[in-house]
Amino acid sequence: MRIHVLPAPVGPLPGPSDATAVIIDVLRATSTLTRALANGAARVIEAATVDEAIVLGQRHPGSLLCGEREGRIIPGFDLGNSPFEYTNERVAGKTLVFASTNGSQALRLAAGRTRILAAFVNLSAVVERLRGAPEIVIVCSGKLGEPSIEDTACAGLLVRRLRDHGGEPVGEGATQAERDAPQDEAAIREVVEGSEHGRYLWSLGAEFASDVAWCASLDVIDQVFEV
Ligand code: MLT
Repeated sequence: MRIHVLPAPVGPLPGPSDATAVIIDVLRATSTLTRALANGAARVIEAATVDEAIVLGQRHPGSLLCGEREGRIIPGFDLGNSPFEYTNERVAGKTLVFASTNGSQALRLAAGRTRILAAFVNLSAVVERLRGAPEIVIVCSGKLGEPSIEDTACAGLLVRRLRDHGGEPVGEGATQAERDAPQDEAAIREVVEGSEHGRYLWSLGAEFASDVAWCASLDVIDQVFEV
């Protein structure tokens, strides 16, 4: 099992074109979408821009417009990017047209591939899902084209966990991420809450602070989703 890591969603994707793509956006896109799908959302369609999301929403009657800019809900949209908004009552059976700043870009970069959503909240389920995959490319969402410490930390921990299943890091991105991976849950929380985006979300208020705290929790969802 060969594992590549792309620290930010700037192409091309490393590895062969049939590699399984693992999309990571700890704060908050893949944490939130995993919760949304665990709460019964039917489908996720990523949108690279707000305008594209509006067009996709029109093409999918009954879908929900979801997403954020600078962390806050996009005006006129149904849902923002807080995991706590995506309740079963709100999203069960729904198609989510999803326009977030960074997570949507990472999803789009891996369009056409098998795309697995990963975050700390479902890390062990992701490890199980990837067992036996010959080639994996982990795409970190980062922040505006630059790496983010919380995403590379999650990628690094995933690489380390996959070693137990014959995983081999390939390239500087993977070896560096594994080297810097957090040792335990306390270290995960420190990295996520201390990150630039974590501190920014905290500054937006209590609700956003709860989001950060939840996104820093390990294995609170025992499911993994392909989008
Ligand atoms: C993103 O995709 O950029 C993030 O998920 C943004 C956020 O949730 O604040």
